[in-house]
Amino acid sequence: MSYKIAPSILAADFGNLQKDCEMVNNSQADWFHLDVMDGVFVPNISFGMPIIKKINSYATKTLDVHLMIVDPDRYIKTFKKIGADVLTVHYEACTHLHRTISAIKEEGMKAGVALNPHTSVHLITDILNDLDLVCIMSVNPGFGGQSFIENTYEKAKQLAHLREVNNANFLIEIDGGVSTINARKLLDSSADVLVAGSFVFKSDNPTQTIADLKTV
Ligand code: DX5
Ligand code: ZN
Repeated sequence: MSYKIAPSILAADFGNLQKDCEMVNNSQADWFHLDVMDGVFVPNISFGMPIIKKINSYATKTLDVHLMIVDPDRYIKTFKKIGADVLTVHYEACTHLHRTISAIKEEGMKAGVALNPHTSVHLITDILNDLDLVCIMSVNPGFGGQSFIENTYEKAKQLAHLREVNNANFLIEIDGGVSTINARKLLDSSADVLVAGSFVFKSDNPTQTIADLKTV
């Protein structure tokens, strides 16, 4: 089974985004993972529209945008306009999740839902068939470079089981603390997309690190 690697630009060099985007373009990576934080849903602020627009002008691969913001409905059209291909919102940030997911798909993007570490995969059973992606947070969202939470393997397996019994076909993405130490076990637990920030960009040879993640 093939799987995708999505380097998280949160750990890239913001002083030279073009260089890091070109590295990802020329690597074996599949997607760009872009973390948008609002300082309200999570205790940190990352980057917003102008930066994503710029990344989109450099990137030749899918833009996987992870919104860690309250009330994401306000910006769905804007994220489409600036180049998002996959738009993921947090379960915990959406009161009317079905409406939000429908709005994302109406704009022609793939729709994802991210789950905080404390959120059970069973809570999204009724919307599984509408989703293109479910992102299991393997750290508390808000920062790069945190340690991987071990019960993620079990959550991924439970989610894969729900996918099967509901005849759904979303991708299972794992986000936070991913490295070559846990990648194989995550894939064996049914992960389809591995997000990796620090492990890629803080390494001596990011292109090689991505290749290593593709061959675990
Ligand atoms: C955390 C973000 C992650 C982050 C992962 O809130 O959603 O995408 O960039 O970074 P690492 O791989 O360093 O844990
Ligand atoms: Zn993320």
